[in-house]
Amino acid sequence: MSLGTQPLRWYRLATWSAPGKVFLFGEHAVVYGKPGIAMAIKPRVMVTVRKAKRQKKPNSTYIAECFRQMGVSGSVYVRSQLPSSSGLGSSAAVTVATLFAINDEFEIGKSADELALIAHTVEKNVQNGRASATDTYVSTVGGMVLITGNTKRRLPPPQIQLVIGNSLTHHSTSGMVARVADLKKTRPQIADPIIEAIAAVTKCSMHHFNNPRELGNLMNMNHALLEALGVGHPQLSRLVLAARAAGALGAKMTGAGGGGCMFALCSKSAKTRVAGAIEACEARAIITGIDTQGVRKEKDE
Ligand code: PMV
Repeated sequence: MSLGTQPLRWYRLATWSAPGKVFLFGEHAVVYGKPGIAMAIKPRVMVTVRKAKRQKKPNSTYIAECFRQMGVSGSVYVRSQLPSSSGLGSSAAVTVATLFAINDEFEIGKSADELALIAHTVEKNVQNGRASATDTYVSTVGGMVLITGNTKRRLPPPQIQLVIGNSLTHHSTSGMVARVADLKKTRPQIADPIIEAIAAVTKCSMHHFNNPRELGNLMNMNHALLEALGVGHPQLSRLVLAARAAGALGAKMTGAGGGGCMFALCSKSAKTRVAGAIEACEARAIITGIDTQGVRKEKDE
């Protein structure tokens, strides 16, 4: 039988992609209503969804929760340029791309805003109720975003060069978020001022996106405060110090910490040297920049 005689819907599959992110400032503090700034980066996750009569158990709890929230059954095929569990927002990118692909494949008709809200709900449900909207929002809209509580805003995209260092040690976002919650409960007199100081650094950074040297200093402060909060990791510290020694303007971990990735702010001329210094520490370097596009349809397969 020639497919040419059949309506296209018979064999097309919806493929959507969504970008990863780095947390420029404010991770962990953002969970407590303080400001957080994140930027979408070039590596992406691609998700293809197809209908199925019965829901096959997906490997990812995020994908299973996406199907549950959308009330349909299907299967997915994921291709990722992002390392998972590393602070680059791969779970959020998978969640966002999956929801948009389901919406398309099943012709559900939800708006982008509705899907972004569902993406945040999926993350909260999988992460024991504690997840800011940062990762899912930046992956949906791209560019640079500021999140404060329930307020989400796009900021003008900065022209900055980043080198990401993947420490190749995995982390658990929910585990790290729980660790900070625990410190806040047992030692509020220590944890609360650190969280306030992170918020002050984030607010200050907003005046310095055209001043890479000052932005770098603020990144270094944010990194030190995250270490004081107990979410550091020896290999992340090593990469941060190596990047600074190789000429980075600033360097910090990104995301929940306890492993995963760091990134360095670099001048154009320093980025190859910084990437080399990171790779010399048994880590993987990715030279990248901002992705101003958020979730997008790739093609019908
Ligand atoms: O490690 P990631 O990429 O999942 O980022 C977590 C960021 C936190 O602020 C620690 C949690 C959150 O939900 O914002």
